[in-house]
Amino acid sequence: MPQRERYLFVCTNRRSDDDPRGSCAARGSEEIVKKLKAKLAELGAAKDVARVCSTSCLDLCDIGVAIAHEPNHVSYGGVTLADVPDIAKAVAEGGIVARLVKYPAASGAEPVQKSP
Ligand code: FES
Repeated sequence: MPQRERYLFVCTNRRSDDDPRGSCAARGSEEIVKKLKAKLAELGAAKDVARVCSTSCLDLCDIGVAIAHEPNHVSYGGVTLADVPDIAKAVAEGGIVARLVKYPAASGAEPVQKSP
């Protein structure tokens, strides 16, 4: 398998139900990973263009479901299953989904928009 041009790191960290921080898995990230992989395959971009990787906590819990999109170096937040087609299309084509970006490329930048 070749190194892909782009990666989506999807937090699938799960905390206990009584943890006040919540977790991306509790917000549905595991299903989002499955749908993103399926959509990239459908677009013909899963083999050599983009890869979806489950990851542990990205320390972006307050915006979860959180996805780091590399090498664009943006972080999406508040992602739901309804966002999967747009994210898959964007990563396949080398773009980003601006409406989902919570942190811009500049490291340490303030969030663009906080999720509720
Ligand atoms: S639990 Fe997903 S970013 Fe922390």
